[in-house]
Amino acid sequence: MISKETIDKIFSTARVEEVISDFVNLKKSGSNYKGLSPFVDEKTPSFMVSPAKQIWKDFSSGKGGNVVTFIMEQEHYTYPEALRYLAKKYNIEIEEDAVEFSEEQKELQLNKESLYQLSEVANEYFQEQLWSTEEGLNIGLSYFRERELRDDIIKQFQLGYSPKDREAFTQFAFKKGYKKEVLEQSGLSIFREDSEQGIDRFRERIIFPIHSFSGRVIGFGGRILQNSIKTAKYLNSPESEIYHKSQVLYGLFQAKSFITKEDNCFLVEGYMDVISLYQSGIKNVVASSGTSLTAEQIRLIKRLTPNITILYDGDPAGIKASFRGIDMILEQDMNVRVLLFPDGEDPDSFARSHSSEGLELFFKENIKDFIRFKTDILLEETQGDPIKKAGLIRDIVGSIALINNLIQREIYIKECSRILDISEQVLFSELAQITRQKIRSDNKDVRKDVKLQPVAATSAEEEDFTYKIEEDILDLMLSYGNYEILINYMEGENPYKTTIIEEIVERFKEDDIQFSIDFYNKIFSDIVEGIENHELRTGEFFVKSEDEEFNQFAAEKMLKKYSISENWEAKEIFVPTLEENLSKNTRDVILKYKSMKILEMKKKLALELNEENLSEENRLELFKRIINLDKLLKQIHKLENRII
Ligand code: UTP
Ligand code: MN
Repeated sequence: MISKETIDKIFSTARVEEVISDFVNLKKSGSNYKGLSPFVDEKTPSFMVSPAKQIWKDFSSGKGGNVVTFIMEQEHYTYPEALRYLAKKYNIEIEEDAVEFSEEQKELQLNKESLYQLSEVANEYFQEQLWSTEEGLNIGLSYFRERELRDDIIKQFQLGYSPKDREAFTQFAFKKGYKKEVLEQSGLSIFREDSEQGIDRFRERIIFPIHSFSGRVIGFGGRILQNSIKTAKYLNSPESEIYHKSQVLYGLFQAKSFITKEDNCFLVEGYMDVISLYQSGIKNVVASSGTSLTAEQIRLIKRLTPNITILYDGDPAGIKASFRGIDMILEQDMNVRVLLFPDGEDPDSFARSHSSEGLELFFKENIKDFIRFKTDILLEETQGDPIKKAGLIRDIVGSIALINNLIQREIYIKECSRILDISEQVLFSELAQITRQKIRSDNKDVRKDVKLQPVAATSAEEEDFTYKIEEDILDLMLSYGNYEILINYMEGENPYKTTIIEEIVERFKEDDIQFSIDFYNKIFSDIVEGIENHELRTGEFFVKSEDEEFNQFAAEKMLKKYSISENWEAKEIFVPTLEENLSKNTRDVILKYKSMKILEMKKKLALELNEENLSEENRLELFKRIINLDKLLKQIHKLENRII
């Protein structure tokens, strides 16, 4: 955990105009600076920086904030990552409060750090071999030249070469002081049983370093030079404490700013596909190298854009993989489009045999939304067979059912109806049937887990609403938790003085309320604990231990805290939203949440009423409970409508 003192120091040292000018060409404009937005493509500057207030505002994208939030937006860093970036820029030494780490945790931290270091050393080494040794130049570089890669691209992707000598790198690392354990864990060296004599994993291969989201080297891929050799074409680093294949996308570090700008991410299969397309000017491209696509990888992209375009080889394996990919992306509520290359071509070969314009035209003419793509392929298979066609419809509606957003669903159903020439009504009823089945099996899972809250078959909108209120409550606690309020619920009752945190905690306790997802419960107790231990100051930026998730949540909430006056440039004001009536807001959000919880219970009881084999006695009991809940609800509504 970065210490409070360090954070204060970073905030007081870093100058927003200096930090931003590393990314945006700023021109003086009155007492402010102006420039082109780094987040969208624009011709006239709408990006403003105020040195006096140490804030920035981008009128094109609506984003704005302080120096740390700029780095978070620009580099897609988490809060602690952004702090580290600024500390490095200003040579501020980072003090860590490590008191809460156990010995075991500390060791893990040290181990991770040495894995990162070793990977960086190896990365330098492989590049050095490529550019500065005879073997590297003759074999490695000439291979890249043969594949028509430009030097600037080779350098940008930090490609390298590992020599033939079986233990060249291992010996090099030993000399640098690295021990057997870390070499073995990184996978860069392989040791036979008890032997201290290691050999290199990568020998006579060209090397593709794999970077994390924030740009640290975490692993490598190595390709053999001739396809004829009977050994795996690509070798990849094994899983380690710093390299989790399922959570990494090749090229993301180089592509991320282009993905945001284009508001789309191209997804390909291999290392060379990424690099070739990038060289041809299509820079918003990543690959799920070495694994099939995972949900975590999709979520990485979702941080940058809601749009993914899958590029696949036109062979049957490629098509099958794309179907699986489509459904996974839809499940994450993202938009997916597909582009198939002609059979026998992959993005790399295609990019090399076409000019940039030819490539662009091919993309423009052949990218299809997933409905069009799936129907085209499946229709060809069914060849007018009505039974097969029915299966096809189910298949496609099954994909649509994965989408949570109702409007999006409807759009796709309409599209599907048009293409397949089937009435919307038929498709909607198919959809309803699939959804019902899904809810039923989901609910079964929920009931099995006794620790979960009772959940009725709530609609997606109701769920969204619940999450929203729950977030509002957490937000109130984060931003104003230790503010004092005067609060009363009943007329004639004397208002009492308390803090927002205390009030929320008490009211939650009395009804034994739990949030609907574990993550919110965790944030809730983190806040309460943090305040009690005087670790957190509400309404300011803070970090909590090494808890990435918490920090991310808190930072996002703080980002939203700033509302910017419409006429910023003229008035030069930047107002943090000051909740005018914290007492009223606290009370309202608690009441709203309680009535929602009661509604949930009521729905659940109503569902039980429907169950078969219910005895008359139980039925009456259920009725009574429902009526009582109704009374409670009425009381709460009365309180809610009361003006204070
Ligand atoms: P391909 O065999 O299609 O390779 O594997 P490619 O990307 O076209 O490579 P070039 O053009 O021959 O150099 C696609 C991806 O599958 C993974 C790699 O990530 C590769 O880029 N792969 C393939 C492996 O991990 N190991 C292998 O042995 C083969
Ligand atoms: Mn290829």
